[in-house]
Amino acid sequence: MRTQIKNICCIGAGYVGGPTMAVIADKCPHIKVNVVDINLERIEAWNSDDLNKLPVFEPGLDEIIKRTRCKNLNFSCDIEEKIREAQMVFISVNTPTKIKGVGAGQASDLKYVEACARQVAKYAKGHTIVIEKSTLPVKTAEVIKTILEDYQMFSTNDNAKATFDVLSNPEFLAEGTAINDLENPDRVLIGGQNEFAINALSQIYSNWVPKNKILHTNIWSSELAKLTSNAFLAQRVSSINAIGALCEATGADVKEVARAIGTDSRIGSRFLDAGPGFGGSCFKKDILNLVYLSKHFGLVEVANFWEVVVSLNNWHQHRISRLVVKNLFGTVTGKKICILGFAFKANTNDTRESAAINICKDLLEEGAILFINDPKVVPEQISKDLLVNENKTLKSIESQNLFNYEGSWCSEDNLEIAASNADAIIVLTEWDEYSKIDWDLISKKMRKPAWVFDARSVIDEKKVLAADLNLWKVGNGSI
Ligand code: UDX
Ligand code: UDX
Repeated sequence: MRTQIKNICCIGAGYVGGPTMAVIADKCPHIKVNVVDINLERIEAWNSDDLNKLPVFEPGLDEIIKRTRCKNLNFSCDIEEKIREAQMVFISVNTPTKIKGVGAGQASDLKYVEACARQVAKYAKGHTIVIEKSTLPVKTAEVIKTILEDYQMFSTNDNAKATFDVLSNPEFLAEGTAINDLENPDRVLIGGQNEFAINALSQIYSNWVPKNKILHTNIWSSELAKLTSNAFLAQRVSSINAIGALCEATGADVKEVARAIGTDSRIGSRFLDAGPGFGGSCFKKDILNLVYLSKHFGLVEVANFWEVVVSLNNWHQHRISRLVVKNLFGTVTGKKICILGFAFKANTNDTRESAAINICKDLLEEGAILFINDPKVVPEQISKDLLVNENKTLKSIESQNLFNYEGSWCSEDNLEIAASNADAIIVLTEWDEYSKIDWDLISKKMRKPAWVFDARSVIDEKKVLAADLNLWKVGNGSI
């Protein structure tokens, strides 16, 4: 049976759902794509005339939205109606780590996924293919299938006549490069058993993805492959950060080490940048999921192996705040420190699990006064992450009188103002503009002796040192 899909609904208009559906709409003008979300504010932002106000910042996304919105791409809160119209429903809602109950701190909370499955069961008409887009623990497809099938079995409602197939189709996009990752994926993974459903989804992707890149697996391999892919990537980051700490202690330079090992084609050169520790919504959550799963199946050594990737990452973030304090004569109380970058990586406004959160919290706890600069992250988000509201009055206070305001922070777009009378600058996100700073000018504004802590290794070492600034560079013991 070959049915051409003409109508898709995606539940969840977040970092994954929004860009993924925008690209599908762009590549498949014959398909109507409806993205629905319970969050009205978010939907209004997706519908905003001002494309700078889209809820997700991704290079190239605005152009696609301009081309497709109100043609074959629509954003709304009409969950019921859009599910009813759809032949295929993507579930792309968030799956946070559980904070209480069984598996707290490790297992994924599937309450949103379950709620979506119930909505689909209730409103779908005819045959509907349900796609897991959210990253989920292995065997979640079974949960979704049970909810859908039991609804049909026990409901007296008309919709009980609907039939369902469930597929896993994990997303491998990385934020900041999402559009390119979606348009030119290394692979598209489709997990499932039913050939009709697999073909229907493959057909959509084959509008722009070469057939040999569309991989079919069983549903559990697909679910596990997503967790494993993120775990392997995160493990590389923790590995290089661990070696970076050793480089600092021994006088080696982690960039040189990374170049040397990266030329070994078995190791490869990507994902070997030492930094302030990995962030983002996926790595930690997915590894903890893997840990939980391993423990569940009695594989304690496997669980311990993966858990260390996360604990090393935590240790590394706190190591950075500790070394800042140590270099500033053991105290940052009442000292002004300028933070460059709050997003978990460049080219995104996302701060989830950003290393900046732990590092800034540590410094605030030590009594520092932070002036935080980020080209895309809004101050309201920083307040939420630090659990401390922005103190806007800091901006109007003469910098030499700031010491009274220990443990507070404000955002500052102007780098010269942010650096004025500061004892240190800490680079936490690799935004391009930070590699072009005029260090001569900035140095003149700072209180001496002044430090630059480059946790991303993106700034010009020679210029910083020539401007009479002290420099620490992640993983570099040779300065
Ligand atoms: C995604 C994946 O789906 C998640 O599993 C993965 O690990 C990280 O990336 P993401 O798109 O980043 O999540 O999440 P988020 O930006 O929080 O968006 C989820 C959206 O789903 C939110 O807008 C939320 O309002 C919406 N939602 C949640 C619903 O519409 N219905 C619900 O029942 C729950
Ligand atoms: C990741 C996966 O790459 C993607 O395939 C998956 O779908 C979602 O999770 P994302 O979290 O958006 O994507 O970003 P990624 O580029 O993987 O970076 C994650 C974190 O690792 C960032 O904090 C980044 O700064 C850090 N990182 C990455 C390093 O510190 N060094 C590196 O060499 C690479």
